Amino acid sequence: MPKNREWHLVARPHGWPKPEDFALVETEIPEPGLGQILVRNLYLSVDPYMRGRMNDAKSYLPPFELNQPMQGGAVGQVVASNAEGFAVGDHVLHSFGWREYAVVDAKQAVKVDPEQAPLSAYLGVLGMTGLTAYAGLLRTAEFKEGDAVFVSGAAGAVGSEAGQIAKLKGASRVVGSAGSDEKVKLLVEEYGFDAAFNYKHGPVAEQLAAAAPEGIDVYFDNVGGEHLEAAIGALRVHGRATLCGAIATYNDTEPTPGPRNMGQIIGKRLTLRGMLVRDHFDLQPQFVAEVGSWLREGKLHYRETVVEGIENNLEAFLGMLRGENTGKMIVKVG
Ligand SMILES: NC(=O)c1ccc[n+]([C@@H]2O[C@H](COP(=O)([O-])OP(=O)(O)OC[C@H]3O[C@@H](n4cnc5c(N)ncnc54)[C@H](OP(=O)(O)O)[C@@H]3O)[C@@H](O)[C@H]2O)c1
Repeated sequence: MPKNREWHLVARPHGWPKPEDFALVETEIPEPGLGQILVRNLYLSVDPYMRGRMNDAKSYLPPFELNQPMQGGAVGQVVASNAEGFAVGDHVLHSFGWREYAVVDAKQAVKVDPEQAPLSAYLGVLGMTGLTAYAGLLRTAEFKEGDAVFVSGAAGAVGSEAGQIAKLKGASRVVGSAGSDEKVKLLVEEYGFDAAFNYKHGPVAEQLAAAAPEGIDVYFDNVGGEHLEAAIGALRVHGRATLCGAIATYNDTEPTPGPRNMGQIIGKRLTLRGMLVRDHFDLQPQFVAEVGSWLREGKLHYRETVVEGIENNLEAFLGMLRGENTGKMIVKVG
């Protein structure tokens, strides 16, 4: 009889997560109840927000429970159905990742079509991270044609899409930062950024000033910390920033100090606005239509870093935090 394997959080990480904080546990394959489907997962998502769910802290999502399977975006195939509207063989997107088999309430599963896009794309470029880029730029930052835009974490899933959308929508200049020279090259040569720099090579403020000498109108923040401070310095009067993520701080063990130049927010009448993708699901049809057509026309490019095997799910997550991914980090279940 085949078994199920699933990742449990067994201790709450302090600082960087350690392998001992997790366990890959073998269980029986669960049976779907009435109104449920059994899904064999094919692709699993690992995402920065999962680090926050490992802490026992009040947030917009509840903490992962200890000694229970962790959760996350996943795409799989229905192998048993006890729910109207779902047949064996259907492909579905749901949020019970970190495991091989998942029982999912039908109302929590969304059918996806492998003919329309590769299945992994529903976790990235056409999925949660793509919508974050789209909504974060166009709605939260109120991007408009002619804006000069700076994107941090620019070679990652959200950042690479945000920068390209800005370019496609008529930005006057798009600058990106990333953590390796290969990523910087990719931003300029493949994604069409006007300039890019490696934030590990020197102070962000100095490198940003060189890349955007006339300043910026929009900052898409995936990183926080030094990047945010540098961007506040570079924003022009009435500039806007989308505070999407602060990955530089997710493993901090002390409260993170704020930017030291917040006085500039007043003087330059800046708007810094936090966003969560879940407030923007109404944009989903418009996002899929627009990004889908850019993909078909070859105008928008994306990369995925695919790690094979459920046993490497944790390593994929840790690797993503360390910057080993280019584009969306995905786990392909064996
Ligand atoms: N608000 C929302 O609803 C929402 C939704 C999705 C994602 N997010 C946020 O958006 C950001 C990007 O998420 P993603 O899924 O697209 O991940 P990602 O960018 O594909 O992967 C994470 C990247 O972060 C970079 N990084 C790690 N530590 C860093 C540091 N100290 N300084 C600068 N960069 C660092 C690494 O790239 P380098 O090699 O360049 O360092 C790594 O590849 C995250 O902050 C995430 O929390 C927010």
